Amino acid sequence: MRDAGAALCCNSAVPFSLLSDADAAGRLAALLDSAMDAIISIDERERIVLYNRAAEQTFGWRSDQVMGQPLSMLLPERFRAGHAAHVKHFAATGVTSRRKGEGMVLYGLRADGSEFPMDASISQIDTAEGKVFSVILRDVTERVKARQDLARFATEASAIREQEKTRVARELHDELAQSLTALKMDAIWVRDHLERDPAASAQKLADMLDMLDESVAATRRISADLRPLVLDDLGLVPAIEWLVQNFTQRHGVPCALDIDQSLDLGEPHATAVFRMVQESLQNVAKHARAHRAWVRVARERREIVLEVRDDGAGFETQAARKPQSLGLVGLRERAQLLEGTVRIDSQPGQGTRVQARIPLPGADA
Ligand SMILES: Nc1ncnc2c1ncn2[C@@H]1O[C@H](COP(=O)(O)OP(=O)(O)OP(=O)(O)O)[C@@H](O)[C@H]1O
Ligand SMILES: [Mg+2]
Repeated sequence: MRDAGAALCCNSAVPFSLLSDADAAGRLAALLDSAMDAIISIDERERIVLYNRAAEQTFGWRSDQVMGQPLSMLLPERFRAGHAAHVKHFAATGVTSRRKGEGMVLYGLRADGSEFPMDASISQIDTAEGKVFSVILRDVTERVKARQDLARFATEASAIREQEKTRVARELHDELAQSLTALKMDAIWVRDHLERDPAASAQKLADMLDMLDESVAATRRISADLRPLVLDDLGLVPAIEWLVQNFTQRHGVPCALDIDQSLDLGEPHATAVFRMVQESLQNVAKHARAHRAWVRVARERREIVLEVRDDGAGFETQAARKPQSLGLVGLRERAQLLEGTVRIDSQPGQGTRVQARIPLPGADA
């Protein structure tokens, strides 16, 4: 078997020149080889001077194949130029260590030409022979896949939730039709008995009023929470118009609507836009004490932009989230599932503006 320790000692003269004896270098090499993460060091010219066993497994190249070679051989072509600039910048900063690619995915290139996502951190030390950069990296294919699975699961879960709501909305509709039928029969009964039996008729009317009150209350309560059939039956634009009218009627706050009348979105985009406007208007009603509100839904290039604004109380956007507050979290989640973004501008006393941008399907950014 190849002696990794020996290979490291002789090939990696720069880092180990710090070590006085061969024994210490051997122990360090063994330690590096036992690491779970790939560890690669390069000199100032970006030549590989150290390459541990995990790196061999990760990239599929043996140590003797990469020693002295440029680091760029381990990166997909399209990242090579950017990477070199990155290392130069890092060297210039003099920072000793940094995690690379926070918030973005880096890719490595295997010997067989396949690519994989990786997590990397870089550190630098100054030696007598110049700077040595060490990169510690890990194949995160599994993690990236898990995240994608989770996103897919969330999309499915949200589709199921919407289906369920549509079903309940229809049930409600049918049930309401039933109580209306019962009320009609009662009304006929009253018409036919009014003269003959006024006392019984009065009692019947009292029952009918109770039933009406119950139906109205139930309809209000449930329909506030449900997807209105109008979204299915008439499409997004009338559904948003309905939301806005409903908001003004219930809360007495005038609300201007600026909506692109030709907007015709498919699912899941239509539901997402509807829900985001709904939640934002609910927030205006609940928290803003506004005099006016504005809703805008438009297509801008290859995005759909929606904006809900009020001139009310505003709030501290940096403040910690109240544990029971789920509205804005849900709003961001909806946007993220569709690869969109949400921006909230607010300050106490300055009103609030919620803006979401969602790329349209089939549109490459
Ligand atoms: N238009 C607004 N005007 C003033 N404050 C707002 C507005 N929108 C949101 N807020 C503030 O942000 C907080 C978080 O809003 P969010 O919608 O997440 O939760 P919530 O409305 O309190 O509860 P939920 O939406 O879960 O019923 C609110 O409690 C409120 O303090
Ligand atoms: Mg809310």
